[in-house]
Amino acid sequence: MRSLFALRSSGTYHKLILILSAKKHLQKNETQAQTSINMKIGLIGFGKTGKAVANVILQNTEFCLEWVLRQSTCLNHRSVPEFLGIESDEPGLIYSSATTEMHELLDKHPVDAIIDFSSKTGIYTYGQIAADRQISIISAISHYTQAEIDFLKQLSSQTVVFWSPNITLGVNYLMFAAKFLQKIAPWVDIEIIEEHFKGKEGVSGTAIKIAEALDLEKTDINSVRAGGIIGKHEIIFGFPYQTVRLIHEAISREAFGNGTLFVVENLKGKKSGFYKFEDVLLPFFASGSKP
Ligand SMILES: NC(=O)c1ccc[n+]([C@@H]2O[C@H](COP(=O)([O-])OP(=O)(O)OC[C@H]3O[C@@H](n4cnc5c(N)ncnc54)[C@H](OP(=O)(O)O)[C@@H]3O)[C@@H](O)[C@H]2O)c1
Repeated sequence: MRSLFALRSSGTYHKLILILSAKKHLQKNETQAQTSINMKIGLIGFGKTGKAVANVILQNTEFCLEWVLRQSTCLNHRSVPEFLGIESDEPGLIYSSATTEMHELLDKHPVDAIIDFSSKTGIYTYGQIAADRQISIISAISHYTQAEIDFLKQLSSQTVVFWSPNITLGVNYLMFAAKFLQKIAPWVDIEIIEEHFKGKEGVSGTAIKIAEALDLEKTDINSVRAGGIIGKHEIIFGFPYQTVRLIHEAISREAFGNGTLFVVENLKGKKSGFYKFEDVLLPFFASGSKP
């Protein structure tokens, strides 16, 4: 993860730009995983993001991709490493929820954590079974209805349940910084700009989360849809004589995989419960170093 912090100053005009960008080439130490454990992962969803997340898991020796579950029977029983052209001896076979019983899959290929990059209905395929087996649930689904959120909370009485509509380390860092700035100057004008690829429907879940965190209205979010932008979020702090801009830009979907493994690593050994990204980040700030 590259972090560039630039401060330009001229007279009374100050412009502060924080650019957090996800580096395309993955670095294994990004998750700060220094242990030798080999956590077994099951991945739900093998779409645009699921493929990138699988790529990250396969390249990280601390984690083992046991299987991938998708809806259709496309690529059924094919190997993910082979499909992605990665040399790996991890099993990583693709299964379809249309032809695979979750119980059977977990009996044959048990996992420590299930990572969900499918859709809001995915949780009903595996949620209860995973909770009964105390398998950690890491959901990255951007939009849930209240029914799914309630279900996740119910499952969290049995196992570790994590949910974040944006799972990149950078965006969560950005949110932390924004809240801090707002605390110093609660009267400042704040606007959010979110930019995504042409076909993305609705307002970005991340932008909504940023707005909620800063106590803003949905009308303070400005959406741009153009070409193939993966995801850019900008928070503008409008002061009378100066402007502060915090910007996060995802360069590649692998950033979601990196963030996910950071979460899995830092939830290791935690008690059953419902966790958010803030819960994972807070201990770093509390102690001033890695917890
Ligand atoms: N939290 C974050 O930071 C973050 C970042 C990016 C995306 N996301 C979220 O991740 C999800 C996937 O995004 P995407 O862009 O990769 O979507 P996508 O390209 O449409 O892929 C969705 C995948 O999920 C599978 N799927 C859907 N419903 C399923 C179910 N009930 N059981 C099993 N598999 C199911 C699909 O199966 P088939 O391939 O067989 O159709 C497909 O492989 C979305 O909810 C998105 O909002 C979150």
